[in-house]
Amino acid sequence: MAYLRRVTTALVLTLHLVFSFSNAHNITKILAKDPSFSTFNHYLSATHLADEINRRQTITVLAVDNAAMSSILSKGYSLYTIRNILSLHVLVDYFGTKKLHQITDGSTSTASMFQSTGSATGTSGYVNITDIKGGKVAFGVRDDDNQLTARYISSIFEKPYNISVLHISQVLTSPEAEAPTASPSDLILTSILEKQGCKSFSDILKSTGADKTFQETVDGGLTVFCPSDTAVGKFMPKFKALSPANKTALVLYHGMPVYQSLQMLRSGNGAVSTLATEGDNKFDFTVQNDGEDVTLETDVVTAKVMGTLKDQEPLIVYKIDQVLLPREIYKAVKKTAQAPKSSKHKPKNLVADGPGADAPSDDDEVADDKNGAVSSMISRMSITVTMVIVFGVWLM
Ligand SMILES: *[C@@H]1O[C@H](CO)[C@@H](O)[C@H](O)[C@H]1NC(C)=O
Ligand SMILES: *[C@@H]1O[C@H](CO)[C@@H](O)[C@H](O)[C@H]1NC(C)=O
Ligand SMILES: *[C@@H]1O[C@H](CO)[C@@H](O)[C@H](O)[C@H]1NC(C)=O
Ligand SMILES: *[C@@H]1O[C@H](CO)[C@@H](O)[C@H](O)[C@H]1NC(C)=O
Repeated sequence: MAYLRRVTTALVLTLHLVFSFSNAHNITKILAKDPSFSTFNHYLSATHLADEINRRQTITVLAVDNAAMSSILSKGYSLYTIRNILSLHVLVDYFGTKKLHQITDGSTSTASMFQSTGSATGTSGYVNITDIKGGKVAFGVRDDDNQLTARYISSIFEKPYNISVLHISQVLTSPEAEAPTASPSDLILTSILEKQGCKSFSDILKSTGADKTFQETVDGGLTVFCPSDTAVGKFMPKFKALSPANKTALVLYHGMPVYQSLQMLRSGNGAVSTLATEGDNKFDFTVQNDGEDVTLETDVVTAKVMGTLKDQEPLIVYKIDQVLLPREIYKAVKKTAQAPKSSKHKPKNLVADGPGADAPSDDDEVADDKNGAVSSMISRMSITVTMVIVFGVWLM
């Protein structure tokens, strides 16, 4: 019996590993096989682009070798600028060698990650791929006068329709990708919030003096959850009734002293600390993923992440549909009823009790991340885990 159980455990573990990882690619590992791409590979990791690549289901990476990388490294760019340039090398579509040589009408224009991350304006994040004489293929950036500056050299790795890694001759760049970016201390949080439609939240940051704490945290990494103006407006009467200390704590509760991209938020369900966390006063909340939605649960209220307002490492600002009410201030009775699942188009009423229940949802346009790849991967993984558990029970 003990033997059977051990076999079962081993099987379950193996199945779990096979199922959960067979679906993901690892660009770092793919490129590590050839040391001539070590510089490019290093910067993909350093700029966190590797994580972005790994979470996509359909992607093409245009890799340049160490010699070609020196053309941008010699310019002394900040890591953020290098990220912009390298994100031009990540195409959000699949181009294997075969497809490259069979482009309809010999030329196409395809979106790169520079386009999809919102840093590019107009079509400046598009890459032009053109079949040229003698069966060769050339690449160029749309805004760089449409000059086809790089050539296809060889295929490094292909997994059809998921990931293709191609060796190209030169770094693709453009004046926009190379434009100097703000250094972290130039990122003035309150003015960013005001520009991005978060005036009300910015006002309460200033009125409590918490803006200073937020600002001091930016350099080391800061994630801000900004409740919409409507949500703050509705909450104002309750906010005014709080003591000054409670007001400050509630505002600080909307910041996390780390940079957490949407992908990072999505990949880790669990409790997170905030700027209000201090000793015994936990002031934490739980990040939950439900399909494409990311929600923040405080036990008093459940807020939904509605989009990303600003993502400029080390600072990221999300918009949320409710003011986060800490249980340390509102001492809520723990929810018994689970919030309804699959609330994709109904951000309202995620929590029916609690003082925040009447906070409105608003449908302001925000630059939401339309890539559901991770969420669907996560749901597939949970199905897998369930299957494995069922299988394990059956074996016992
Ligand atoms: C990808 O591969 C690298 C090198 O083999 C490894 O260090 C890293 O942990 C892997 N990442 C993931 C997400 O599996
Ligand atoms: C590959 O692409 C297909 C279809 O887009 C998708 O179903 C599958 O999960 C993908 N696999 C990986 C490795 O992401
Ligand atoms: C790509 O660039 C070439 C050369 O500048 C141009 O002739 C072609 O029309 C461009 N293709 C697309 C789809 O923009
Ligand atoms: C505010 O803070 C005090 C203690 O400092 C606490 O007793 C009180 O319940 C808090 N909450 C509200 C809603 O005022």
